[in-house]
Amino acid sequence: MNARAHIGVTGLAVMGRNLARNFARHGYTVAVHNRTPSRTRALMEEFGHEGTFVPAETAREFVAALQCPRRLMIMVQAGAATDAVIDEFAPLLEPGDMIIDGGNAHFADTRRRETDLRERGIHFVGAGVSGGEEGALDGPSIMVGGSKESYAALGPMFETISAHVHGEACSTHIGSDGAGHFVKMVHNGIEYADMQLIAEAYDLLRQVAQYSPAEIAEIFRTWNKGRLNSYLIEITAEVLSHTDADTGRPFVDVVDAAGQKGTGRWTVQTALDLASPVTTIAQATFARAASGQSTLRTAYRPLPGGMHIPKSRSEAERFTSQVEQALYASKVIAYDQGFTMIQDAALAYGWDIDFGAVAGIWRGGCIIRAAFLDRIRTAHEAAPDLVSLLAEPSFAEEIAAAQVPWREVVATAARRGVPAPAFAAALSYYDTLRADRLPAALLQGQRDYFGAHTYRRIDRQGVFHTHWGHPDRPETDV
Ligand code: ATR
Repeated sequence: MNARAHIGVTGLAVMGRNLARNFARHGYTVAVHNRTPSRTRALMEEFGHEGTFVPAETAREFVAALQCPRRLMIMVQAGAATDAVIDEFAPLLEPGDMIIDGGNAHFADTRRRETDLRERGIHFVGAGVSGGEEGALDGPSIMVGGSKESYAALGPMFETISAHVHGEACSTHIGSDGAGHFVKMVHNGIEYADMQLIAEAYDLLRQVAQYSPAEIAEIFRTWNKGRLNSYLIEITAEVLSHTDADTGRPFVDVVDAAGQKGTGRWTVQTALDLASPVTTIAQATFARAASGQSTLRTAYRPLPGGMHIPKSRSEAERFTSQVEQALYASKVIAYDQGFTMIQDAALAYGWDIDFGAVAGIWRGGCIIRAAFLDRIRTAHEAAPDLVSLLAEPSFAEEIAAAQVPWREVVATAARRGVPAPAFAAALSYYDTLRADRLPAALLQGQRDYFGAHTYRRIDRQGVFHTHWGHPDRPETDV
């Protein structure tokens, strides 16, 4: 067989098949392989006419079909399946070849695999591919890790098949080893937060302002014309307009729990390790978990809640505008938390990340694509060392303008007994970071009391311990 394929894709389930088709539709010759050959045959039968495919039944045939240096893309389940496929193909490759994992791997696995394969001269590239089934086919957002050298060989291909916004490709080299999968993971964490904030906004409009799902859909359509413009706001209006065919009731009245596949959870677990306070993302993840706690919810359901004070039409309209402001402010915080977490990881893992480029490739192809990512990109480009979005004047001004409504919405939720964990977490995060002094002073005193953990003073250098309960013994500098 001639080694003529520009790239090979192994793992031809939904994502792999669509990505292979995307490459082929853009003129690349694509070798295709799957553990179970019937999937390869099915792809050829259904979509073989879309471009130039080289079907391969065995691993050797597949590798032999690839141009050197070989680009071999794995699209199988994360975890053991990915390791199994790497173990199968790596012995057939030569130094300089590239294995690309386009699955949803945990970044720590990607780091491990990259180290192992680097020792054998093979480039291992963890690439986060966002946009689901449709994105894989029509243009995903691609967050690429691994060596710069491998991006030089792969980048043009990824940039060709990725989504494009104003002519710019939504693919970039994020950083070495696991940086691509890390940023993809945080993307998903931000996605969880964004979705939860939107869901809380809906719940408040429904329970406090007493609007129907169809009316709220219209509100979201209006918001989608402004600064909240995004894919998630757009599909929210569609979901809220949807009526269940069986019962004739709004879709949102026949469902009551949300699932998760794990990447949001990984974001929170990793954030704990990095001491990165992604509180809005964490609350969004826990909110999904709480929705599934049916026994616990049954036990809590009869308990008393807040007061309901009906709102007049004009009050409801005013509240709607307040919710828009609270949603926007909380969303800025959620994204800021995500970027901060990436900054913390960059420091911990030695990644040199261009944050403007990250915001840039999230503008298209992926689930969190949103108009305001353009502004986030501009902010990071103007100030590459930007510590927080809130350090950028136009975001700071918007947050300043949202103060009264943001606080009013969170207070209303508490008074009325409507859960708004992500809104409240975002506001608390904001208040925590802007506080002149924090009650951490008291915590550290408690730690020193029971565990002699010592403390630092704000007025003198050194590490101190107080002999609690012995007022006669002076504080010691330890
Ligand atoms: P998607 O999310 O795109 O639908 P997935 O569930 O992440 O897909 O992965 C499924 C793919 O992984 C399939 O191509 C599967 O191969 P089979 O069609 O033979 O089942 C592949 N896969 C899973 N475990 C594998 C393994 N140990 N070795 C090789 N391929 C494997």
